[in-house]
Amino acid sequence: IIGQRYLQDYAGRRLLVTAGPTIERLDAVRYMTNHSTGRMGYALAEAAASRGADVTLVSGPVQLTPPKGVRVVNVESAEDMFEAVKSRMDSQDIIIKAAAVADYTPESRLEGKLKKQEGNLELSFKRTTDILNYLGEHKTHQYLVGFAAETEQIEKYAKDKLKKKNADVIVANNVGDTSIGFKSADNAVQLFFKDGSTRVIEKMPKLDVAHEILTALKKDDHVR
Ligand code: CTP
Ligand code: CA
Repeated sequence: IIGQRYLQDYAGRRLLVTAGPTIERLDAVRYMTNHSTGRMGYALAEAAASRGADVTLVSGPVQLTPPKGVRVVNVESAEDMFEAVKSRMDSQDIIIKAAAVADYTPESRLEGKLKKQEGNLELSFKRTTDILNYLGEHKTHQYLVGFAAETEQIEKYAKDKLKKKNADVIVANNVGDTSIGFKSADNAVQLFFKDGSTRVIEKMPKLDVAHEILTALKKDDHVR
């Protein structure tokens, strides 16, 4: 078809993408979050849908319009995201964890609005569920794509995550470089596959990076 950049190479594939930050509520008016804009995850959802995939986008709170033809599930906290992914994992072929999930959440949610007092405030945080780790432990047939946001020792940490979380590939992101990653329109990533192969995707707009990632997954014949 004229004007169509990509073949329908994901036709019939069911793909779930998580995107954006999570927000962890402290009290009635305050929360903890991060700088993720959701753009990389939304770009992946858009790219996959345009290539024929049946896409579910599990999204934290972002300022983006969901791509057309994508099923959207909006969530807030890491725990909400975990439930949303867990309940849908069985029906997916590919799960891409692009979300910047909070690692910690307040140990207890304060009722109402916290009033200020003399002296320092001390809060206690507990670990959230590591969703990718859960998927790695419980996957049956799903192809698992994790992300790794790193500021240093990118290759080492990405490979550690690949192994520890039993993912099929890790997409490593240098979040220390402000010209790419979190807030930027561009991204540059490196893929680390389970079989030891790697692929570099040079700096380009996030939608192009998304297409390159999907092509890399296909080309290496990791996703059938
Ligand atoms: N992830 C997840 N659930 C969490 C935390 C992270 O599913 N509670 C996923 C992310 O979506 C990403 C991958 O794990 O796909 C790696 O996230 P990252 O923050 O880079 O690594 P962590 O394992 O959380 O380790 P650290 O933050 O200490 O580097
Ligand atoms: Ca983390």
